Amino acid sequence: MSQALYRKWRPHLWDEVIGQDHVIQTLKNAVRADRVGHAYLFAGPRGTGKTTTARLIAKAVNCLNEDPNIRPCDQCKHCIAVNEGRFLDLIEIDAASNTSVDDVRELRDKINFAPTEGKYKVYIIDEVHMLSTAAFNALLKTLEEPPSHAIFVLATTEVHKIPPTVLSRCQRHEFRRIPVKDIVGLLQDLSQKENIQVEEDALTLIARQSTGSLRDAISLLDQLASSGNAVTLSTAQTILGAATNQLVIELVNAIQTQNTAEGLNCIHRALDSGTDPRQFARQIVEYLRSVLLINLGSWETVDATAETKSRMEAHAGFFASAELVRITNLFNSAASDLRSAWQPSLSLELALAEAIEPQPARPDLEVPQRSQINIQRTAVAAPTTTPPQSDVQTTSQQTSREALQPDKAVHSVKKEKPVEEIQQPPAAQETAAVQSSDIPQEEKEEVSTVTLSDIKNHWREIRHLVRDYSIPTQTLLNSCKLLSFKNNTLTLGFTTDILHSKMNTKENLTLTSRAANHILNAEIQVRSVVMDTKAGKAPEDLNIDSEGIIGTALNLGGQIVDRD
Ligand SMILES: Nc1ncnc2c1ncn2[C@@H]1O[C@H](COP(=O)(O)OP(=O)(O)OP(=O)(O)O)[C@@H](O)[C@H]1O
Ligand SMILES: [Mg+2]
Ligand SMILES: [Zn+2]
Repeated sequence: MSQALYRKWRPHLWDEVIGQDHVIQTLKNAVRADRVGHAYLFAGPRGTGKTTTARLIAKAVNCLNEDPNIRPCDQCKHCIAVNEGRFLDLIEIDAASNTSVDDVRELRDKINFAPTEGKYKVYIIDEVHMLSTAAFNALLKTLEEPPSHAIFVLATTEVHKIPPTVLSRCQRHEFRRIPVKDIVGLLQDLSQKENIQVEEDALTLIARQSTGSLRDAISLLDQLASSGNAVTLSTAQTILGAATNQLVIELVNAIQTQNTAEGLNCIHRALDSGTDPRQFARQIVEYLRSVLLINLGSWETVDATAETKSRMEAHAGFFASAELVRITNLFNSAASDLRSAWQPSLSLELALAEAIEPQPARPDLEVPQRSQINIQRTAVAAPTTTPPQSDVQTTSQQTSREALQPDKAVHSVKKEKPVEEIQQPPAAQETAAVQSSDIPQEEKEEVSTVTLSDIKNHWREIRHLVRDYSIPTQTLLNSCKLLSFKNNTLTLGFTTDILHSKMNTKENLTLTSRAANHILNAEIQVRSVVMDTKAGKAPEDLNIDSEGIIGTALNLGGQIVDRD
């Protein structure tokens, strides 16, 4: 099997180490001046060059080149021996597997022997934070009085776990995450030399996914190129699971168009594909943050593929910065919300609902004045607990018959058509389910001039009218299903409790009712319910006999939509 690319491309010279100039410069100077210290601590994230730099020290201090300015030369026999992993005076210890005090004692005993080949014995102790306390104490003794021929380089990704007594005896260097553009540059160079065909956007995606670790970045490229085909953005997206990025963009689109149903759909698609909800929330926050930065004019600080950036720009042009701050905050809380532990999607759904419904209902909603809605004949919509019948009576007393235009799309029917026969308007996306309320039962004597189908046919106009008064209410109406119209009461079904509870306010129900009254010239009460989305399953709180008529309907795939 061929050598892993990241091993093949381990820097051999100081100048090949990227993104750590502050460390490299100091070490280079020390080598030149022959003032290399006896104990170094390299701290920083994984894959940023700690082991690489430690080996460069081993090479540089043992390099046979006469000019200290060009040590390591990478050509003398010592440099070559280090490169090939057979230089006897370079001792690499993985503290993760040699944590005991005996291991350190053994090291201490051997350290006094003079170097075999070179001038210095260099000990690299990787993952040094893994040592036991006793082992640290043993190491400390050695660090206090190292023999003049010994150099220690301790490396760690978790510097906070290193005892202060050890820290104080080392020259400490912090390794940084490598910036995306530097990673892209290195990957470009490397692909050219390795003859890998790759799109620049794919490299940016790889760089972003590797979160500053060059080893990860090179490994990802290696993995993507292993098929021998060109590495395109789309293959990179597919293989790296970055497709969720697309869902983030779609979610923000849904917020922009105030389409709650679509937004919920994005959330559920992301979670169904195995994305961790908090991770998804973080991705949304990261995206919105970039949109905000662009919105504030800081275009160049945003790291993204050209395609994503153009979407960000479009969003930045649409949202006001205050709005972006508000929405980002909502998803930021979702990212850290502990409630997600028991209901993974809840925090995200709440954030979405709040993002789309920004302001509390405007006070003038109570009495809309900007349209010709006939205030006189409207009534407060029936609360779900009140039998609709009683409200119908009240409102019909208030109805001013003259305001109705009987010749305009108004039909007189005695009973409703079953839901299956009614054509679904474009807004109703869910498939119609058999409703338990369609099970033959005694018809209530009722005369309505409007049918559910009339309401469906005019639903678009009704929503448009509502929009004039409240965009949030209209948004909620976009994501509900028109379930039934009985006893002059239109029942709106929502798939989640959150949306239902948002809709179920006096303002929202009244406004919708008024708009419907106005468009259809009829008396229409509105109420909201939560649909049981699991057809065939009875809600647990309803004591349903599985042999009875409702139970049988449920067993056949029916769905309870009206619990009153
Ligand atoms: N700063 C860098 N410049 C160039 N290449 C780098 C750099 N950092 C890492 N690499 C690449 O990543 C590989 C691994 O780097 P290295 O082993 O030095 O990382 P590390 O910081 O020791 O990581 P860990 O903490 O996981 O041990 C190298 O072989 C090299 O290909
Ligand atoms: Mg290392
Ligand atoms: Zn050399």
